[in-house]
Amino acid sequence: HDQGLSQTPPMGWNSWNTFGCDIDEGLIRDTADAMVTSGMAAAGYEYVNLDDCWMAHTRDSNGDLVANTTRFPSGMAALAEYVHDQGLEIGLYESAGTEPCASENNQYSAPGCLNNEYNDANTFARWGIDYLKYDNCGGHGGQSAWERFLRMSDALDQSGRDIVYSQCSWGQEGAEWTWAWRHGANLWRTTADITDSWDEGKSACDNNFFMGVTDIVDFQDCEDMHRYANWGHWNDPDMLEVGNPGLSETESRAHFGMWCLMAAPLIAGNDLRNMSQSTVDVLTNQEVVDVDQDPAGVQGRKVRDDGDREVWAKPLVDNEVAVGLFNRGSSSATISTMAAEVGLPSATDYVVRDLHAHTESISSGGISASVPAHGLALFRVTVNSGGADTRPTEYLS
Ligand code: GLA
Repeated sequence: HDQGLSQTPPMGWNSWNTFGCDIDEGLIRDTADAMVTSGMAAAGYEYVNLDDCWMAHTRDSNGDLVANTTRFPSGMAALAEYVHDQGLEIGLYESAGTEPCASENNQYSAPGCLNNEYNDANTFARWGIDYLKYDNCGGHGGQSAWERFLRMSDALDQSGRDIVYSQCSWGQEGAEWTWAWRHGANLWRTTADITDSWDEGKSACDNNFFMGVTDIVDFQDCEDMHRYANWGHWNDPDMLEVGNPGLSETESRAHFGMWCLMAAPLIAGNDLRNMSQSTVDVLTNQEVVDVDQDPAGVQGRKVRDDGDREVWAKPLVDNEVAVGLFNRGSSSATISTMAAEVGLPSATDYVVRDLHAHTESISSGGISASVPAHGLALFRVTVNSGGADTRPTEYLS
């Protein structure tokens, strides 16, 4: 399926973390406007995604999905047109079963896509939908996950429209990070749902409702998931909780930086219409976003674990490395690493750029910072060439 989409992790917003089922077309239009006026669109965010509960309770007389006419009186095609007119793209949510998750949980009754995949993909394409988050709730009709998710992948292809395919089965069907890319999922959810909390006290390899920021970091690390991420195919550690009430400003900044080190999709989950300046600053810090969006497409990993103090490294293009010093503890701590430990080539000295302070220093190899409790120091480190071109000679004229 992948259609060459999402060559870097997709960026956007999704309604679920803040609004749950309480969504309507006014919210979506205002969110699209806010994505532009806040500077998020300029920073790279493009998808405005409706999660669960957008559908009418039943299909129409042709068997087609339709939007809930009370909440979306203008219809989905008109809403898509509005979002496109702001220079953005629009996404929807559905499920590879008889009903979506909110329906299975008796929050909002609605039909799923099982055995209607080709028709529904055509409906999405006709409306102008650009992104599908495809969940795993409802009855499965005795069909394997592989079969059901592959059929929607094929249906999206046959629809003739470029639609990012976001699979959401988070290990309920085996380790889907090892197989979802084979049928062209552009991203796949790796854990149970995130909540706006630093730590829900799970053990490192636990994947259960609900997951805090550090629980998700641990689970992805436990499964060595970095091996499966690359162009067009990303591990999805769930949508962001940046700016939501359960996280402090320091925790939001650390959460965002860790997601960038993990080459995660950056799907904001806060109310874009009401953001503090600090939240805008975290979401639009271009130097941090650039770590996530680096064209090498390599997911970072933990290279040192000293209990509450961790060192993370993400290889970037041109032999640069993003380095995260992650303090999970409840008091500030000095965390240090060396160029060799994070995989930099050996050299006399390095330029160490602080991506939060936007300052630079020269180092002979040590990378160190005093990091606040629940904080992340984030650097881009490169060999100090003194301005010389260090590319291999065959690239020089
Ligand atoms: C599941 C998903 C969430 C959200 C809800 C909607 O729980 O994991 O991200 O989409 O369904 O019902």
